[in-house]
Amino acid sequence: MTETRKPIVAGNWKMHHTHLDAIQVVQKLDYQLRPEDYRAVEVVVCPAFTALRSIQTLIDGDKLEIQLGAQNLWYEDQGAFTGEVSGPMLAKLNVDYVIVGHSERRQIFGETDEVVNKKVKAVYRNGMIPILCVGETLEERDAGGTEAKVRSQVKEALRGIGQDQAESLVLAYEPIWAIGTGRNATPEDADETTGQIRDELRMKYGELADSIRIQYGGSVKPGNIAELMAKPNIDGALVGGASLDPDEFARVIRYRL
Ligand code: PGA
Repeated sequence: MTETRKPIVAGNWKMHHTHLDAIQVVQKLDYQLRPEDYRAVEVVVCPAFTALRSIQTLIDGDKLEIQLGAQNLWYEDQGAFTGEVSGPMLAKLNVDYVIVGHSERRQIFGETDEVVNKKVKAVYRNGMIPILCVGETLEERDAGGTEAKVRSQVKEALRGIGQDQAESLVLAYEPIWAIGTGRNATPEDADETTGQIRDELRMKYGELADSIRIQYGGSVKPGNIAELMAKPNIDGALVGGASLDPDEFARVIRYRL
């Protein structure tokens, strides 16, 4: 990471933690973090939809410096979409960030680049910030297709997104083979691909690309975060498994120590 981009570490809890568990985790996490940690790193938690209201109340009530993220949304603002949650619903809960295009959404729920693009637009339309996920499969990596894959995912997802919006954008490079497998990309590989993502952003947004934050995600743990963060193009982490436990997540966030 570079001095101009504040590191952002986000916990993606996926389908874990009831709202009661989530409250405890956030309380314990905040108890471990000091003002200087929040100054050094932007901390985001992305609980399940059912826990958002509870965590919002906790953050507001106790004036926590933790930012609130959602894991998904539907791209229409309202209507007959049984089971879906819209941008206005999330915005009313003071949600700051929405994860869009996570590989689990793409692979298990069939989200296409076109849907991802509509979701990115819906997040911005409702005054929130997307954490846009891109990444290649193991087959694509082995076939030398990583760069082409991530460049096309970035391009398609950001169709119609202008400079003013892209300013706040957060990208997450998550090689699919590294998610939940315990096998993280080497810092060199992760830095190379995040560099290519930044180059794709530069082609579209010019020098603004240098202020857009790009996270790495995929088996990030207390033991490997520091070497990843030492790389120039990596500005933070999207953390699954290691964010579920407040002690472990706090150690990820305090990687400088
Ligand atoms: P992981 O998940 O840290 O458990 O590999 C990362 C993610 O899917 O965002």
